[in-house]
Amino acid sequence: MEKIIDENKQGESLILEPKKENTKKLFIESYGCAMNFSDSEIVASILADGGYNTTQNLEDADLVLVNTCSIRDKAEQTVRKRLEKYNAVKKINPKMKVGVLGCMAERLKNKFLEEEKIVDLVVGPDAYKDLPNLLNEVEEGRDAINVILSKDETYGDISPVRLNSNGVTAFVSITRGCDNMCTFCVVPFTRGRERSRDPQSILEEVNDLWNKGFKEITLLGQNVDSYLWYGGGLKKDFDKASDIQKATAVTFSNLLELCAKAQPKMRIRFSTSNPQDMTLDVVKTMSKFENICNYIHLPVQSGSNRILKEMNRQHTREEYFDLIDNIRKIIPDCGISQDMIVGFPTETEQDHQDTLSLMNHVKYDFGYMFAYSERPGTLAERKMEDDVPHDLKKQRLAEIVALQQNHSQYRTEQFVGKIVEVLIEKSSKKSDAHWSGRNPQSTVVVFPKEHYQIGDFVNVKVNDCTSATLIGEAVGYSKNN
Ligand code: SAH
Ligand code: F3S
Repeated sequence: MEKIIDENKQGESLILEPKKENTKKLFIESYGCAMNFSDSEIVASILADGGYNTTQNLEDADLVLVNTCSIRDKAEQTVRKRLEKYNAVKKINPKMKVGVLGCMAERLKNKFLEEEKIVDLVVGPDAYKDLPNLLNEVEEGRDAINVILSKDETYGDISPVRLNSNGVTAFVSITRGCDNMCTFCVVPFTRGRERSRDPQSILEEVNDLWNKGFKEITLLGQNVDSYLWYGGGLKKDFDKASDIQKATAVTFSNLLELCAKAQPKMRIRFSTSNPQDMTLDVVKTMSKFENICNYIHLPVQSGSNRILKEMNRQHTREEYFDLIDNIRKIIPDCGISQDMIVGFPTETEQDHQDTLSLMNHVKYDFGYMFAYSERPGTLAERKMEDDVPHDLKKQRLAEIVALQQNHSQYRTEQFVGKIVEVLIEKSSKKSDAHWSGRNPQSTVVVFPKEHYQIGDFVNVKVNDCTSATLIGEAVGYSKNN
């Protein structure tokens, strides 16, 4: 099966070490992107200091928090359905309070309290530190809301509690918000302006993770390549910084290097890269350090120059090919994945063919593909008609998914007969006798467990593959173990 995630089916509840003095129970679950899962760890950490231990049992909860996604309409519908479930539980447990966090909270604001009777609390992505105060209000019987977006909140001072963790891989958030204003995208409205986190606090988190036994981190941001630290402040205000601030600024490639050097045995990944902001410095840094994984998630969205322009993506198809060619020159075995949108307003058959031909040129390792979903408030919604019929979107989506599956198969076949390094993350979903992990290119590898353990770096000889998975056998620990 091709790796197409419906990000919004990943609702997952989280557990953390209970604190003895805490008397109340929190059930928290997340939908959407990795940033939401990471934010929920921050929220659980704030509430652990505010009297709450987490529970995995919805029925037991004093407080239910759902971290929501607005990226496509379907994501929002999933959360609305979940609220119905909470409603049913509340009939049995009338004292239970319900709060909505994340992008839907930010987008819908007060409307949430009006439209959904079950909701007592609405908190946007920059207001989580206000949760203890807001909960006091809720306890006194009032609805509470804080959806103020911030210019400087990065939660750099909060050490997230690692929830539902395999103890091996972790996300480390490095930027918040996005300034790119792609015309289809709701993120700049729900997560605000782009700001970067202090590199010192990032390094402290990375070191702390290593000391706790973690072996791989993913540096996380909507647009990691535009990471820029010059002492705080918005990315867009960098022009106004002093000469000293400019001379000592830390770029994403500097940050990667700092992390790679701080923990030379830790695998380092990052996500997501926007082609317009990715510099060759980053690619060169990747090639310089063995512990930075040779893998780039490089969404392009469309292969048509006309559509790229309508989407306000600041590069052409040709510039994208140049970047891909340069990446492959500097890192020949680099894994590359995509995000693609079909059926953006005005997309013609020719535009769609351009997307197919771009994919044929790149032959991505895997990808995440979506039908365009109009989002209220975005430039595309205000200025363009959602004019590609639903069935045509579905048809084009099926075409790119099938093509990607061929390319994925082509890519996985290249590994057959080779030895790849795998970090063991968990038992394989399909067989308890097999481990599952990933190679540096982020392709999933499964192999018999033998005496190996979760968290081991193992060399695996690949004997077979599907389009999504390499199947092999361990031939020993890797030198990084
Ligand atoms: N830079 C972000 C992108 C967030 S959105 C990141 O960290 O991944 C993830 C993907 O969702 C986008 O790359 C895009 O392919 C898709 N997407 C965003 N808005 C969409 C919309 N309105 N309709 C369909 N897909 C969308
Ligand atoms: Fe969205 Fe474009 Fe930013 S896809 S998150 S506006 S880079």
